[in-house]
Amino acid sequence: MAAAANEVVLALENVEVVLGSRPILKSISLAVEKQSIVSIIGPNGAGKTTIFNVICGHVRPSTGRVILEGRDLTRRQPHEICRAGISRTFQIPRPFPEMTALENVRMGILFGKKGHGAADSGEPGAHDLLELVGLKPKSDTRARELTLSEQRRLEVARALATRPRLLLLDEIAAGLSPSAIRHAVELVRALRERGLTLLIIDHFLNLTARVSDRLIALDSGKLIVEGKPSEVLSAPSVIASYLGERLPEYGVGLTDGG
Ligand SMILES: Nc1ncnc2c1ncn2[C@@H]1O[C@H](COP(=O)(O)OP(=O)(O)OP(=O)(O)O)[C@@H](O)[C@H]1O
Ligand SMILES: [Mg+2]
Repeated sequence: MAAAANEVVLALENVEVVLGSRPILKSISLAVEKQSIVSIIGPNGAGKTTIFNVICGHVRPSTGRVILEGRDLTRRQPHEICRAGISRTFQIPRPFPEMTALENVRMGILFGKKGHGAADSGEPGAHDLLELVGLKPKSDTRARELTLSEQRRLEVARALATRPRLLLLDEIAAGLSPSAIRHAVELVRALRERGLTLLIIDHFLNLTARVSDRLIALDSGKLIVEGKPSEVLSAPSVIASYLGERLPEYGVGLTDGG
């Protein structure tokens, strides 16, 4: 049977998160289709990273379900979720600082393996992944000596090393120069071409609006609007809660088309 054109890879169903006595996520439902790029936008503290934490098993929802390709992952441990096919990068890069870039990616390969992985299949993979993210010349550089842009790319390579089908990217453009952001845009597109499905968080709207098929806008733990980037960015509720303060940065920095 042929796969449905709009096959859903990830679904969140009525996810609620309460931390302490505070509701952080309020009945979040969303679906991410295969090989699509979906971005979550919203002001600081809206709950974007918490959604990633729920998907990856770092935060347990008080109610609701997380479904990957029809399989309920809600109560699974982070390593089980990783092996089920979901990988993420962190808002603040978390490489092993004393290890080289290559060693960091190899760790990802080992972490993603179900059994005791042999180094034979791992080594070419690690080199390939560093090349994919543009870090091959830095293979033998310790992670702590890499620039922020390079550390973010290393995070992507390490996340890819576990062979995910769904990749979650938390703020890949924050703090980067316009040229580094252009590379991030190209990388995201290249990943989709390789068959990945991507869920992205980024405040840099010129990245999220440009690469995404759909945007999801959050405010105070609630999903307020979702749809095509142009629709979401012109929604009055998004302008009022988020976009108004960011209009000056929207449309600058990446004006060379593509
Ligand atoms: N471990 C925690 N315990 C209590 N509250 C938390 C915890 N983690 C996050 N929060 C709160 O949950 C809310 C959502 O946080 P979250 O990090 O998901 O926001 P965000 O949308 O990713 O923000 P930013 O754009 O600043 O990264 C915030 O008010 C935050 O203070
Ligand atoms: Mg965040």
